[in-house]
Amino acid sequence: MPVLRIALLGCGAIGSAALELLRDDAALSVAAIVVPVDAFEAARAVAERFAPGAQIVSSVPVQGIDLVIEAAGHAAIEAHVLPALQRGMPCIVASVGALSAQGLAEQLEAAAKAGNTQVQLIAGAIGAIDALAAARVGGLDSVRYTGRKPPHAWKGTPAEQGCDLAGLKGETVIFEGSARKAASLYPKNANVAATVSLAGLGLDRTHVRLIADPAVTDNVHTVEAEGAFGSFELTMRNKPLAANPKTSALTVYSAVRALRNRVAALSI
Ligand SMILES: NC(=O)c1ccc[n+]([C@@H]2O[C@H](COP(=O)([O-])OP(=O)(O)OC[C@H]3O[C@@H](n4cnc5c(N)ncnc54)[C@H](O)[C@@H]3O)[C@@H](O)[C@H]2O)c1
Repeated sequence: MPVLRIALLGCGAIGSAALELLRDDAALSVAAIVVPVDAFEAARAVAERFAPGAQIVSSVPVQGIDLVIEAAGHAAIEAHVLPALQRGMPCIVASVGALSAQGLAEQLEAAAKAGNTQVQLIAGAIGAIDALAAARVGGLDSVRYTGRKPPHAWKGTPAEQGCDLAGLKGETVIFEGSARKAASLYPKNANVAATVSLAGLGLDRTHVRLIADPAVTDNVHTVEAEGAFGSFELTMRNKPLAANPKTSALTVYSAVRALRNRVAALSI
């Protein structure tokens, strides 16, 4: 199989950790790193260590790229992923939470159709997305997602209103409602809820609970689903990335897995 030439969107916590893991991959070559001009210097420093052959650019090159992977956020999806898809370039998206915004999922689908290509959403920080999406085929009755984090992790969110986060003695539910409402009130925590929704019952029928819990140190995600297939409960206790405590290390591994699966003779 020929080497797959990749354009990486974003070179922050996920992008740099993924570059480090991909450094010695003979079948995958990061040919371009796409970041805003003010992030060129930082991206260049990372590229020097992990991807010396990559060019640092502010848009996806029109030639010489086989696949785009996004780890940069909502603005980058609009600026780079949509046009790349329209040009027929397959794309992998990590910022799945951005798809809670009205119309963006439909725009991505339309762009991929127009380019006769595909956009893949990675499972990221959550597991059992394969089981959930398969269970949907037979029919799902209920899907519930619970996100549990230490109180300080909810600083700067609406959880601060009417709740003394620092003084919490026991677990406290700070939000309960639809995944759509959770994404609009807690956009920085939207990735997992959006991924579970898109794989299962959608943003309006996926029930979300967000909990501040002084007894935990990690980010704990629980998914419970019931349907014609039976039922499952999954709990993940994710370790944060050293470079960005808001991002789970598993998200990086999920992105790297998605890339390696594109070139693997046997993919799982
Ligand atoms: N699916 C999941 O489970 C999951 C988990 C964690 C994070 N994420 C998402 O992944 C994305 C990246 O996370 P991170 O921790 O690496 O963030 P980060 O802030 O560390 O890095 C973001 C990078 O994107 C670049 N960037 C910003 N705007 C851009 C644009 N318009 N075009 C190109 N590059 C741009 C920045 O310069 C930076 O290099 C975020 O959107 C985050 O929400 C997804």
